[in-house]
Amino acid sequence: MGFSVAVTSSQGFEREILRLRNANRDRPETSQYINWRYQHLAGAPPPQVFWLLAPQGERIGMASVVFRPYWLNGTRVQTAVVGDISLDARWRGRGLGRLLLQHMTAYLDEHFPQHPGFVIPTEAARHALAKAGWSAPGTLVPHVYLIDVTRYVRAIVRSAWLTAVIARPLRWAARAFARLRTPRAGELILSDTPGEAVHEFLRSVAPSEGAMHDLGAQTLRWRYQQHPNTPFVFATYTRGGEVRGVLVFEETSLEGICHVYDLAARAPADMRAMLALFLLRSLDTPGIASVRMLTDDRHPARSTLRVLGFSPRRAEAVYQVHSRDGSAERCTWRVTQGDKDT
Ligand SMILES: CC(C)(COP(=O)(O)OP(=O)(O)OC[C@H]1O[C@@H](n2cnc3c(N)ncnc32)[C@H](O)[C@@H]1OP(=O)(O)O)[C@@H](O)C(=O)NCCC(=O)NCCS
Repeated sequence: MGFSVAVTSSQGFEREILRLRNANRDRPETSQYINWRYQHLAGAPPPQVFWLLAPQGERIGMASVVFRPYWLNGTRVQTAVVGDISLDARWRGRGLGRLLLQHMTAYLDEHFPQHPGFVIPTEAARHALAKAGWSAPGTLVPHVYLIDVTRYVRAIVRSAWLTAVIARPLRWAARAFARLRTPRAGELILSDTPGEAVHEFLRSVAPSEGAMHDLGAQTLRWRYQQHPNTPFVFATYTRGGEVRGVLVFEETSLEGICHVYDLAARAPADMRAMLALFLLRSLDTPGIASVRMLTDDRHPARSTLRVLGFSPRRAEAVYQVHSRDGSAERCTWRVTQGDKDT
């Protein structure tokens, strides 16, 4: 008897998912996180878990698919988001990861042919997925805006007094530069719950071309408001009382990095004004060392980010897609940090 793959739903298997996941990750997660991650939202097929079984029937690996809504060329499609790919360390490097992911892909093609697949893999998983027929249309690039330059100035001049003398005018200049890009009647309102005006705005800007994750009320509630580990903030950009942009961010991580997860604006000028207001607010918030925004390498906000002083860093990952009819491969995907961790 050889290795085999069994498919179940996630319900009733949460403890086993947590065990396999934690055995194969640097940072352990809680059962609360697993319950959130596998939450089955109305209108989606139930999550699918693919178990790799050793010849004696022991579960030695897994991969899972949770269906989440994406917009594909103007149509809302439940997309098979792959995650929790794990193989116990002693079994790695023998082609078993590839076996598991090939089986998963064939199963999705057969049972969910209308649902495209999406994943942000680790380097090891990327290879195994590529062998299973997944393509990588783009990379994920971090864009970083330095709020606190003292660490860098200090490394060069070495004197605390001189560092302060140099850093202060740099901060004033950054503020003045950002202020130049904000319109008079523009305002940024922060809240931990998006109001009806935000939902209405996001409905109106759902893209009619390309692929990106849904930002509907149900998705926002699950993705951001119910997240078990991270408090998120919604920044709403209004001009003349009208909502013209929304940005979702995690206030600060331990390292003082403020991560932007999602952003949408009515027009490029609104995107620029919203981001400029957000930078002004970050420059005035103690404890923030930098603002970081992850986007795919063709994201429409990239040029605005550069104009405002964000610098692109080396691509840190890829995203991969798969569909039986090739539609996912033909789409231009718009990816942000909001696609991760789901
Ligand atoms: C991802 C994982 C399941 C792959 O399983 P595996 O059985 O070791 O992989 P395979 O032996 O089937 O290898 C498949 C391909 O990936 C390549 N590969 C495997 N591990 C790799 C690594 N760390 N870096 C680069 N390539 C790697 C192999 O060389 C092979 O390519 P080849 O056929 O051209 O030689 C396993 O490494 C794992 O559980 N890793 C830890 C958790 C993790 O990273 N999960 C992914 C989360 S998205």
